[in-house]
Amino acid sequence: MTTFADRTRSAGNHADDSGTHDGAPAATLSGPADYIALDERWSTHNYHPLPVVISAGEGATVTDVEGKRYLDFLSGYSALNFGHGHPALLAAAKEQLERLTLTSRAFHHDQLGLFCRELAALTGTEMVLPMNTGAEAVESAIKVARKWAHRVKGVPDGEARIVVAASNFHGRTTTIVSFSTDETARATSARSRRASTSSRTATPRRSPPPSPTAPPRCWSSRCRARRA
Ligand SMILES: Cc1ncc(COP(=O)(O)O)c(C=O)c1O
Repeated sequence: MTTFADRTRSAGNHADDSGTHDGAPAATLSGPADYIALDERWSTHNYHPLPVVISAGEGATVTDVEGKRYLDFLSGYSALNFGHGHPALLAAAKEQLERLTLTSRAFHHDQLGLFCRELAALTGTEMVLPMNTGAEAVESAIKVARKWAHRVKGVPDGEARIVVAASNFHGRTTTIVSFSTDETARATSARSRRASTSSRTATPRRSPPPSPTAPPRCWSSRCRARRA
């Protein structure tokens, strides 16, 4: 299979860090540092990965651009517990992509109900809302809980509070990031973000755990305003 890196190598006009989109001389991508420099130049700086550049995976093993093999204990933060390239999953994905690549929710789909019914049976739930990301799942859970609070529990409008654990990480949407006890994540100024993300970490930054004797803190806007 041709990868993006293969294409950029042969096209020779995107794999550069010159600040232009075309017409620039081709750079040779010879090792992890070159790929990382390319990421740094062309992808937004919202994550600070480990300096490992993976190019292939099979089962629990991944291989980097220099042929070094790793056991992938991270497994897409558990989104990939079935491993890389499982033959049954590849075959199912290929069959589906060839038959119908994508629909929006503007249409019904001949697989959606079947998928949701099977997943509901597997997880013992009444209904299923498929989501693309963890952050969307958390946002949806908040919406469902809020609707339940107002409609079932009778919480008056404007009185609902969202209570979260300190030192959490639930994703990067505006609501969720506002839960964070990490001042870096909460900072709105690019300057403070730059200052506190100068070293690399594999995962989003988290604050040190709170003291075991400290009372739990509520990060709702009302509680924060009261503390301020
Ligand atoms: C515990 C936890 N919750 C939520 C998320 C957010 O998931 P996503 O990046 O898919 O929005 C992550 C992602 O790292 C996570 O580790």
